[in-house]
Formats: sequence, C-alpha cells, structure tokens
Amino acid sequence: MSHGSSGDRISARAAAIGPQRIRAMFDRAARLESEDDRDLVHLELGEPDFDTPAHVVRAADEAARAGRTNYTANAGLFELREAIADSREPRPDPASEVIVTNGGVEAFHLALETVCDPGDEVVVSTPAWPNPISQARMAGAEPIEVPMPAAEGFSPDPDRIVAAIGPETAAVILTSPANPTGRTFGAEGIRRVLGAAADHSAFVIADEVYRGLTYTDVPPPAAAIADDDLRKWLLTVDSCSKRYAMTGWRVGWLVGSGDVVGAMTRLREHTTSSTNAPAQYAAIAALTGPEEPIEEMARAFARRRDLVCDRVDEIPGVSLAPPEGAFYAFLDVSDLEGESQAVADRLLEEYGVVTAPGTAFGAGGEGHLRLSFAAGIDRLEEGLDRLERTVRDERGAG
Ligand SMILES: Cc1ncc(COP(=O)(O)O)c(C=O)c1O
Repeated sequence: MSHGSSGDRISARAAAIGPQRIRAMFDRAARLESEDDRDLVHLELGEPDFDTPAHVVRAADEAARAGRTNYTANAGLFELREAIADSREPRPDPASEVIVTNGGVEAFHLALETVCDPGDEVVVSTPAWPNPISQARMAGAEPIEVPMPAAEGFSPDPDRIVAAIGPETAAVILTSPANPTGRTFGAEGIRRVLGAAADHSAFVIADEVYRGLTYTDVPPPAAAIADDDLRKWLLTVDSCSKRYAMTGWRVGWLVGSGDVVGAMTRLREHTTSSTNAPAQYAAIAALTGPEEPIEEMARAFARRRDLVCDRVDEIPGVSLAPPEGAFYAFLDVSDLEGESQAVADRLLEEYGVVTAPGTAFGAGGEGHLRLSFAAGIDRLEEGLDRLERTVRDERGAG
C-alpha cells in the first residue's frame, strides 16, 4: 500500500516560504564548484573575509576549557547583557530591556512573533534584506513593501514610509545603514517614522547591525533620538556578526521595552532556549576588548568601498550610488539585457562571478545587482575585472 507523499503534509505556512534568493545563488555556485570545478568569485554573501579577532576566539576557548558550557539564562548571560547595555546611549536596564539572540536574525524572528497578530501589517522600505519580510509572513502578518526611489539612489524617504503606516501596522522596519543599498537615515527621518508609528501604537524595529561600518557621517542610533515616550515603541536589533567578523558565532541582541523583551524571552524558551555559551563569552570580549582590530577591519572596508566606486565609475552602462555604510554595492545594471536574475545568472554561469539579483531585496530592486565587498581585495579586483569584461562583451565594446 502506498502511503502518499510526505510533501503533502508540509504546512501551508512553511510551503509559502520560498528559498532566500541570495542563498539560492550561493547554493548554485557551490554546485558549480563541486561538479565542474569552476573558479568562482564570491560576491554574494555579507560575510567578512576577516578572521574573528584573536582575543575574541581566546575568550570562547577559555570559557569552554573552564567548563562554562551550560545553558545560560534565556535572555543571555547577564555579563553580556551588561556589556550590551554599556555600549548603548541611553543605557537600557540589562535585567529587563536586553535579550541576547542567535544573531540579529533571531532577534527579528522573536520580535515579529511577539508584536504581530494575524492580519497585522509590517512596513518595510525596499530594497531590503529579505529575512524579516519572510519572518513577518511566518508570524501571520502581511509585509507592506514601500519602494524607495531608485532615481535618488534609494535614499530613505520618510514621507513614503509614514504614508504606509496605519491602524493595522504592528511594526515598521528601519535599517540604517541599509542592506543592500548602503543608505542611511538622518535624525529627522527617524524621529518622523517613530512618531508616526507611536501614533498608531506600532513598533519601530531599528536594525543597526551595520552602524559601526559607515563611510560618511555615522548615522545616529534611533534610541538616542527618541524621547522616553517614543522610546517605548522602539526595538533596536544589533549583532556581533558584521562589525566583529563573527557571522558564524551567531550572537545578536535586541534592546527594547521590558514588556516586549519579557515576552520574547518567554517565547525563546520554546524555540532555541539560549545562545551558545562560549559564543556569548566571545561576544563579551568583542564588546569590551581592544578596538584596534575592529577599526582596522572598518578601514579595510572603506578602502574596498572606494575601489568598487572607482572601478564601477569606469565601466560604461553600469552605475552606483556610493554606499554610505555596510559593505554592499547595489549596481544599476538596467542597461544590460534581461531582468536582474538573468544578469546574475549570466555573470555566474559565463563569467564566474556570484552576485545577488536586485529582486532578492524586493520588487523595487529590479534592474540592480548586489555585490558584497566583504570579500578580500584580490577576489574583489578579480570580480570587478570579470564584471567589466561582461559589460564590455555585452555592450559590444570589448
Ligand atoms: C540588514 C541586516 N540585518 C540583520 C542581519 C542579521 O545578521 P546576523 O543574524 O548574522 O546577526 C543581516 C544579515 O545579513 C542584515 O543584512
């Protein structure tokens, strides 16, 4: 007797979540590398090529050797929550207003599960990092994408965001600097969005994972702009991943009102319970240790950003609004044949450069490709050479 297909038992909720399109490029590239032994240049993931600083690795090693390997509190080691609180202005209460998570991605997941009811709306300006959009759906909410104007280099337009906030809004996601555009929000824009959200009893989730990586003025942290009344509606997500080259350690956090942090902490017992204990000791070392290795990485990203801007300037038919922060170049490739997925496919299959199509970041990203300059400078140069060759071949100039 046949027992039917196990696929039929996949929940509608799980079935509705497609593969993340940045990861899909990574997976296809990995297949080409293993099956065809191709030499590919990886510019698709936001993955710093630096090793985690030695003092951070040492802290995890010492913790593990000393037997500090047990479950920790659901909200994270108190010592780490204190270090997080000390890094923020105004200082939150580490006992009730800080939760340590498995990367910023889990902070978003728990926050959206905590503040969204089915039918609620989550406002996201796009192009945007796609994970919270899927997570909003997982929480039963409807993501409302608000495209930022491509003609203005995707600079955040607070008017458009405010206009999308209404009685059904549960949360507004405000990422500064943004992935994939590298754009930042000014103080006035943040204040307006926060005010409009608070008027509708909605939260602003300020994603500040790239705040330490800026090339122009450092954008203000949302918490420093809000007064006590508005700050109740602010949830700030941050992470060790990008700033300290710690993507695989999976340590992030959320800072916000005790009500929300308390509910997230209760939910967490039933999902991941807590974050890897030695990784939390590593995070303490990252937050409280020497700044020099971190500043050196930030200087290297700045050099790579300048290299990408200069090189792209020389390539006909491709343009870039110089990123103000993060480590992505969101290239306008609309002069090339086909949609952004087709351009990314050709670059991968014919020229061996792995990028992410602009539509991975919402419909407003069409006509663009994201290149991550978190890759090492040699690979970045090689990738830019290949991009230039592609464009010249396709435009008949080569
Ligand atoms: C804008 C943005 N926020 C948050 C994250 C979460 O990173 P992690 O979960 O590694 O902390 C990412 C990762 O790429 C990101 O691009």
